[in-house]
Amino acid sequence: MSVRSSYSFFSCFHLFLLVILALFRLCSSIQNSHCNDIERQALLQFKHGLTDESQRLASWVAENKDCCTWAGIACDNSTGHVHRIHLPGLDGHCQYIDYYRTIGEKEALKQKLKGDISRSLLELKQLKHLDLSCNDFRGIHVPKFVGSFQNLRYLNLSQSNFGGSIPPQLGNLSELHVLCLGSFHDHPIETTSMANMKWLSSLGMLHQLDMSGVDLSKATDWLQVIKTLPSLVQVHLSQCELSNLHMYVPSVNLTSLSVLDLSFNNFNSPVPQWIFRVTSLVSLDLTLCHFHGPIPSFRNLTSLELLHAAWTNFMNSSSIFQELSSSNLVSLDIESCGISSSLLDSLQNLTNLISLDLSENQLTKRIPKSLGNCNTSKNFVQ
Ligand SMILES: *[C@@H]1O[C@H](CO)[C@@H](O)[C@H](O)[C@H]1NC(C)=O
Ligand SMILES: *[C@@H]1O[C@H](CO)[C@@H](O)[C@H](O)[C@H]1NC(C)=O
Ligand SMILES: *[C@@H]1O[C@H](CO)[C@@H](O)[C@H](O)[C@H]1NC(C)=O
Ligand SMILES: *[C@@H]1O[C@H](CO)[C@@H](O)[C@H](O)[C@H]1NC(C)=O
Ligand SMILES: *[C@@H]1O[C@H](CO)[C@@H](O)[C@H](O)[C@H]1NC(C)=O
Ligand SMILES: *[C@@H]1O[C@H](CO)[C@@H](O)[C@H](O)[C@H]1NC(C)=O
Ligand SMILES: *[C@@H]1O[C@H](CO)[C@@H](O)[C@H](O)[C@H]1NC(C)=O
Ligand SMILES: *[C@@H]1O[C@H](CO)[C@@H](O)[C@H](O)[C@H]1NC(C)=O
Repeated sequence: MSVRSSYSFFSCFHLFLLVILALFRLCSSIQNSHCNDIERQALLQFKHGLTDESQRLASWVAENKDCCTWAGIACDNSTGHVHRIHLPGLDGHCQYIDYYRTIGEKEALKQKLKGDISRSLLELKQLKHLDLSCNDFRGIHVPKFVGSFQNLRYLNLSQSNFGGSIPPQLGNLSELHVLCLGSFHDHPIETTSMANMKWLSSLGMLHQLDMSGVDLSKATDWLQVIKTLPSLVQVHLSQCELSNLHMYVPSVNLTSLSVLDLSFNNFNSPVPQWIFRVTSLVSLDLTLCHFHGPIPSFRNLTSLELLHAAWTNFMNSSSIFQELSSSNLVSLDIESCGISSSLLDSLQNLTNLISLDLSENQLTKRIPKSLGNCNTSKNFVQ
């Protein structure tokens, strides 16, 4: 072989490689930018079942072939499969009354998706994230088929007015990290309920659980089950009609638990001691829990930054205030706790305090100026 012919062989080979590479790139870019036909059809069917008064899904049309660019949809970059449906109503602001004021109540209602959730979504086999929170499904049940999204890591159906009982099929979502089923009490007839929590014990990866507003009065096993989920970081069970607080459970092994919200449950029982042994707690909400004695000790809750305990009898205690005086509290709400003025001196050293609610207490003296190195921009309420 002459030098010249070997040169041209190589350049031909080169060219050939380049063409192959270019073709490959073209194909993979097509795959990246255009979602799979079946998945696009599935999304169109899902849209068909919904009522979308404010045209939030205007980009969801057959002519717009690349469903990965549709509002609220995201695809996996390498496979092109839809892996995220993120359609919270009101941009997820349903808790902020100010937001309703800004856009007006009528417009706010329009911005909430209504209707049915089509089974066609089951075609989205790679779905990892499903957020339909803050919409208005008007009492329909959480579909059982949601339990079949094997890759789901995030499920948020909070405050969307689902009704009926929560399907235990959700227990099949073994990859789930975040589960939010909290309902909103603006339609009190359409609350969700739960007969037991057994199904939850198979969600071994769960970090965040919000079932606030779900009627758990029958789910007496709630603590037994939660105790078996060591990866839990946040547990929100506000307004769940919990009554059995398993007072005599000595301790729970939740070493990652940072946020515990048990507010607005009428426990009407002594304070359970296990709560005060979860040393990882940063935020504890016991507002209106109707606990009565014995006075707990906060000594072991050394990471606590937020304590909300409004309408709690046991807070009027000098031993508690002594313990809290050396804490790192940032937010303290002790409205209507029967607090007397003599206790406030203990709060002087809480230099990190940003928010303090002392309203409706038995304060006879003025609040000491030195309290929390009082800073007028801080949010102190008396
Ligand atoms: C996928 O692409 C989007 C948009 O180009 C980019 O923001 C995101 O970081 C990419 N994700 C991965 C995992 O590469
Ligand atoms: C779930 O949705 C609600 C309402 O949109 C939102 O406030 C909340 O932050 C979401 N939860 C998580 C963990 O993202
Ligand atoms: C979970 O999935 C399996 C197989 O897919 C099924 O047999 C079982 O009934 C499901 N369990 C629940 C609670 O849905
Ligand atoms: C608590 O959990 C940790 C880690 O999950 C485990 O190593 C330990 O044995 C558990 N302790 C008890 C008393 O169950
Ligand atoms: C605080 O923790 C110590 C060490 O684990 C334990 O002996 C003690 O009983 C705990 N105190 C309370 C009030 O739980
Ligand atoms: C709070 O404690 C003080 C001192 O122990 C007591 O005098 C006062 O009556 C208590 N207030 C209430 C509402 O129980
Ligand atoms: C506040 O801190 C100072 C200095 O560390 C200490 O002497 C004082 O006893 C503390 N006050 C209270 C009420 O804990
Ligand atoms: C007052 O508090 C605000 C908010 O915590 C902070 O940004 C500001 O620096 C504080 N000012 C002083 C003088 O401490």
